[in-house]
Amino acid sequence: MKKILGIVASQRKLANGEILIKETAASIGEEVKLDLLKLPELNLRPCKACYACLVPDQPCPLIDDLYSVFERIKEADGIILSAPCYALGPAGITKLLGDRIIALAQHIDEIWGKPCVIIGTAGIKGWEGYTLSALIANARFLGLEVKDAHMFIGALPGEALLQSEVKERIQALGNSLFGEPRPLEAGQCPTCWSDLWKFPRPNHAVCPFCGQEAEIRSLDNGTNLHWEFGPKASRFNKSDLKEHFQVWLNDQVREFGKRRKELAVIRNRYKG
Ligand SMILES: Cc1cc2nc3c(=O)[nH]c(=O)nc-3n(C[C@H](O)[C@H](O)[C@H](O)COP(=O)(O)O)c2cc1C
Repeated sequence: MKKILGIVASQRKLANGEILIKETAASIGEEVKLDLLKLPELNLRPCKACYACLVPDQPCPLIDDLYSVFERIKEADGIILSAPCYALGPAGITKLLGDRIIALAQHIDEIWGKPCVIIGTAGIKGWEGYTLSALIANARFLGLEVKDAHMFIGALPGEALLQSEVKERIQALGNSLFGEPRPLEAGQCPTCWSDLWKFPRPNHAVCPFCGQEAEIRSLDNGTNLHWEFGPKASRFNKSDLKEHFQVWLNDQVREFGKRRKELAVIRNRYKG
């Protein structure tokens, strides 16, 4: 029997996110064991930026529930991550967990490629902000394989279930978790699926999450726009994540050791 970890970021009891996790797990079509992890019930502390976790075999010095979350992800065959939209982004507790990425990335091999589907919940269509893109990026940073992600709308607890086509969308999430990932949707980044873009210069787009680039050309005298995507961005590839979190950051710590005195001269001017 497959084990599913349902991660709930909502502060509500029987939140839309929790109900949608249960429905998704039930839609899978085989017997599964659902283990619910409610982030607001845990003790998760903010990263102190001490970089102590970069030392081999040294855990994050904060005493909290971080590694128990990691162990539960490790034990699961698949993950359903749900978070509500608060103030246009995912609930802050997901950021608190996401910010501990340096400690968790030291063990990325242990959970690499675990399948994951993502459920966002928001009260008002058009007010979802960057919620889903941020959740997808959080999961990819952890090395999870994102198979589907969807934003459900409903302000009141239970209301998200009343959305039209909700059953079909839940079924699609359930099918993808241990099956084929859903196809790319219109407007999304072909590498990471974010639907947000930056335009640092005319005719040039960059995905703010994975760094995917595209040139935008106008066709048919400007009636159509053609997006020509560059090579796939590699930020979320295993080798790039390991290079960044296990090599580059360690180099930076050594660099700081060498330049500590020089930098202290600058910093000391701002004491007091
Ligand atoms: C502090 C707070 C901020 C919110 N901000 C937004 C928002 O920016 N956009 C939106 O669509 N809904 C917003 N909502 C509404 C929730 O996203 C909505 O009620 C959703 O159903 C919550 O999902 P849940 O039942 O899984 O917790 C906010 C709710 C709270 C409590």
